[in-house]
Amino acid sequence: MTKKTGEIPESEILRQSDICAQIAEINAALPKMPLAMIDTYGCQQNEADSEILRGYAGMMGFGFTDKPEDADLIIVNTCAIREHAEMRVLGNVGALRHIKAKNPNLKVAVCGCMVQQEHMANKLKRSFRVVDIAFGPHELWRFPELYKKSIESGERIFENSPSDGAIAEGMPVIRQDNIRAWISIMYGCNNFCTYCVVPHVRGRERSRKSADILAEAKKLIQEGYREITLLGQNVNSYGRDLDENIDFSGLIRMINEIPGEFLIRFMTSHPRDAGDKLFLAMAECEKCAKHLHLPVQSGSSRILKEMNRHYDRNQYLDLIKKARALMPDIVLTTDIIVGFPGETEEDFSETLSLVAEVRYDAMFTFIFSPRVGTKAYDMTDDTPKEVKKERFERLLTAVNGISAEKHAAYIGTEQKVLIDGIDKQDDTVLTARTEGGRLVRLKGGQESLIGSFAYAKITGSNTWALSGELM
Ligand code: 5AD
Ligand code: SF4
Repeated sequence: MTKKTGEIPESEILRQSDICAQIAEINAALPKMPLAMIDTYGCQQNEADSEILRGYAGMMGFGFTDKPEDADLIIVNTCAIREHAEMRVLGNVGALRHIKAKNPNLKVAVCGCMVQQEHMANKLKRSFRVVDIAFGPHELWRFPELYKKSIESGERIFENSPSDGAIAEGMPVIRQDNIRAWISIMYGCNNFCTYCVVPHVRGRERSRKSADILAEAKKLIQEGYREITLLGQNVNSYGRDLDENIDFSGLIRMINEIPGEFLIRFMTSHPRDAGDKLFLAMAECEKCAKHLHLPVQSGSSRILKEMNRHYDRNQYLDLIKKARALMPDIVLTTDIIVGFPGETEEDFSETLSLVAEVRYDAMFTFIFSPRVGTKAYDMTDDTPKEVKKERFERLLTAVNGISAEKHAAYIGTEQKVLIDGIDKQDDTVLTARTEGGRLVRLKGGQESLIGSFAYAKITGSNTWALSGELM
């Protein structure tokens, strides 16, 4: 099968493995096994990337730690989606100065979306001398080479060449969880929503071949994983750049055919490309979770146009109707931005009314954060901060009220859940998730049930979670 998107040649990935082996030899000769710490910010794509970095570090002979003071290698995988995320990263990277003063052998690497922005890379170079290695998302596959260059030359290595991005297969992965796994099915984004930095830092959309995705999914199921989340910035445009006759609904159907008891989830779906074909695949595939995360961003058609979202309020509401017609109990979640430049009280009230109409089960809400290089960065933004904050609070109150009501409606029902751990506050309570992703605290179960599906009778609820008993 051929592919239009560039691929990193297998020989290059093998070269990285050879470098890992060389470094592992050096590390094995040390009096004590060196430790790596990986600090991840942002979205699931970053979590998935960090699992590859962990894989590489493992191949290089590092053990792992969560304590910076014990680490010989610290990798900070950054997010650029909002200013708040960037500030946290800069604060934490700056604080590593004190750790490095005590351990001069410590190597600090900063990677991910922040580094791909020229102004940020310059800032790290100029003002954060503690950083030894910095690289953008397009360079992830050659981390071993960059690390080697850094230890051999003793120089600071900064790599963030502009790129549309290529696909790298065959990199090592050490996953953090043994119940749930991410599979990146595509990278990048072509949508250029006017507020969003993602297309600027992660490049154009490129899909992995379906055979590679299927092989990874099969392996995970064989290893005992119970839930697979297909990841992409815009999963509905999966396959458009491939020379294969496949789209996202076809991919769901293929994965659904893998034998075994497991759940398929996906994120994120752009409303522009979602429709009956996707909803039908979701409805017909018994392993596909009946949960749709469909970011609306705003309830005002005028603001949606300014955001370059390619749908209006009515089209979005139509989609929700179609999804519910096929899956009456579908769990719906969304993302909303408050305070986009020029958002008026009237625009905001349309967001509130849309939320009341759809009645989402849960949502992620954000205050608009201007990002360098995006169109919205240059738009006139004259809404005072306090007004944005006040709107944000009003939205949150509305959302929490709806979530609490929707959760209360579960009381008395039986739910199939995946048990995934022990409650942090009460070790006699197990935690689980419904198919729709709702958290359930369960009484009456044993630790040995972690990783299995079970049925729970729901007996209580609040805004954020359900509680119940194992049946
Ligand atoms: N400001 C605020 N929120 C943003 N998002 C993306 N870019 C910005 C920004 N500049 C939100 C969107 C997106 C989610 C992942 O982050 O709601 O869906
Ligand atoms: Fe950003 Fe829009 Fe692409 Fe999502 S679809 S990553 S919000 S540009």
